[in-house]
Amino acid sequence: MKRTALIGELNESNQGPVTLQGWVSRRRDLGGLIFFELRDRSGTVQVQVDPQSSAFAQADRLRSEYVVTVCGQFQQRPESQRKGGLADFEVLADAVEILNRAKTPPFELDRGSEVSEDLRLRYRYLDLRRPEMQQNLMLRSRVWAAITEFMAEHGFINVETPMLTRSTPEGARDFLVPSRLSEGEFYALPQSPQLFKQMLMMAGYDRYYQMARCFRDEDLRADRQPDFTQLDMEMSFVEQEDVLELNSRLLAHIFRTVLGRELPLPLPRLTYQEAMDRYGSDKPDLRFEHAFVDVTDLFAGGEFKAFAGAEAVKVIAAPELTRKQIDELERIAKQNGAGGLAWLKRSGESFSGGISKFVGGITPQLLERSGVEDGGTLLFTAGAWRTAVEALGAVRLALRDLFDWAAGGPEFAPLWVTDFPQLDFDAESGTWTYMHHPFTAPHPDDAALFGSERQGEIRAQAYDLVMNGFEIGGGSIRIHDPATQRQMFQAIGLSEEEAQEKFGFFLEALDYGTPPHGGAAWGFDRLVMVLSGAASIRDVIAFPKNNRGQDLLAGAPSPVAPAQLDELGLKVQPQD
Ligand code: AMO
Repeated sequence: MKRTALIGELNESNQGPVTLQGWVSRRRDLGGLIFFELRDRSGTVQVQVDPQSSAFAQADRLRSEYVVTVCGQFQQRPESQRKGGLADFEVLADAVEILNRAKTPPFELDRGSEVSEDLRLRYRYLDLRRPEMQQNLMLRSRVWAAITEFMAEHGFINVETPMLTRSTPEGARDFLVPSRLSEGEFYALPQSPQLFKQMLMMAGYDRYYQMARCFRDEDLRADRQPDFTQLDMEMSFVEQEDVLELNSRLLAHIFRTVLGRELPLPLPRLTYQEAMDRYGSDKPDLRFEHAFVDVTDLFAGGEFKAFAGAEAVKVIAAPELTRKQIDELERIAKQNGAGGLAWLKRSGESFSGGISKFVGGITPQLLERSGVEDGGTLLFTAGAWRTAVEALGAVRLALRDLFDWAAGGPEFAPLWVTDFPQLDFDAESGTWTYMHHPFTAPHPDDAALFGSERQGEIRAQAYDLVMNGFEIGGGSIRIHDPATQRQMFQAIGLSEEEAQEKFGFFLEALDYGTPPHGGAAWGFDRLVMVLSGAASIRDVIAFPKNNRGQDLLAGAPSPVAPAQLDELGLKVQPQD
């Protein structure tokens, strides 16, 4: 018996005989009748089996997750049971054939969102039967199709780059693969195709893209996987505006074709400086505003000594908060580097609590600048600019979660963050490092500052695509002349020999006629996570690792046989 339709294709117009195939869920026996839900990838439908039907004996053997063929009449349910949509219809079975039995699943699929994630991952093939997961993976597939369609239409060619390669500089640890043929030597899995795509530009391919698997050994979070997919692209003879414009149109294309929504262009933009100053983050969640206000000048040289000499004093206005809530927010501020979180409660035209005894003279200005509501709370951080804004940025996100601020705004708030610093000073090691990667071109107006005391002020031609507080993608215009590349290596303390050792092949290529070029890469999984509203990147990846980097289904990582290690010339040294 062959099926005549997918369940999701059924509607009013195909009432009559149907043959369906799928999995049994939720069997109920009621008043001598058997009811069960039949599920396939496209939907579920209720099946009813009457005691007089020849299907009854078979139906009586059905258990959850049995695989069946059902033949019957697709018809409307009695008037009193209609609620709208496919739920108004049912199949009255004439025949049921069991194609395969199933063991009792280790968790009820209907309650998949309530069971531990490790259990779901251990039995991922069952978890993936849940309609939410199927929706996510189907959305993923549609986003993929929209991207490849757009890229092909805009003259990009799809080129694959190697998985077994050398270290690529994206700031994470490498996954290494031992070589059997060159004993004692290792390949690195790519953290991104960065150097290869730049060499494709040098090779004259003009516009490249790839849905690239990338591997990064870093601490895992809800929006990170060690093994993930990027939409990676590179373009020749372009400037930053060209890359931003094309990528904005790509996002609009995805919104239109996949979500059926128009995305107004151009996308909003903030410089790194503005984003940090107002929201304390280089990936601000703009579904809501609640920006910081700068009050450094109000406290400068004043009686509150802790703030008087601070480089920056920032304040955010919050609703009324309990002491317990303030304590929790202070813990978050401290965790993010702040010395503390000062507060004030507005009572009419004055402040009480917290640091109120120090703000008598500046009360009117604080009220006016912050716009805090009566009964509401002002929360302050102070200190070095970057610490003050980052700590208050973390507080802003905690307030979002506490008061559901994001729910009041648009569902999606994409923007570009531009003008990232070229260099970042690592106070711990006392050294300069790159902010994006060492091949990013500096802003032409700032390049003269390399090597000077002010090199921290050099802006990069680097940009991030941000949506709902997540970094969806990032890229830059690249350095295409060897002299600037040398200056950049010097700035980050990389000697000529070290640069040669790490990227010699690439630097050599740079000398053979490199066009001006630039590009970007999007975290494809992350994009799908945000578009689907999933809480974790793992919910949009078919077979992800858990947050300890393990594949619980296949059982990886795992020890290997001694013979395999011998062949590779490796020995495992037990760690104490
Ligand atoms: P970057 O390192 O910013 O840039 O990566 C680009 C995008 O990839 C996503 N991403 C991740 N997604 C899931 N899990 C991870 N562990 C992970 N790490 C990164 C993010 C990020 O914005 N070669 C450059 C791009 C370029 O310059 O063209 C690069 O890889 O969404």
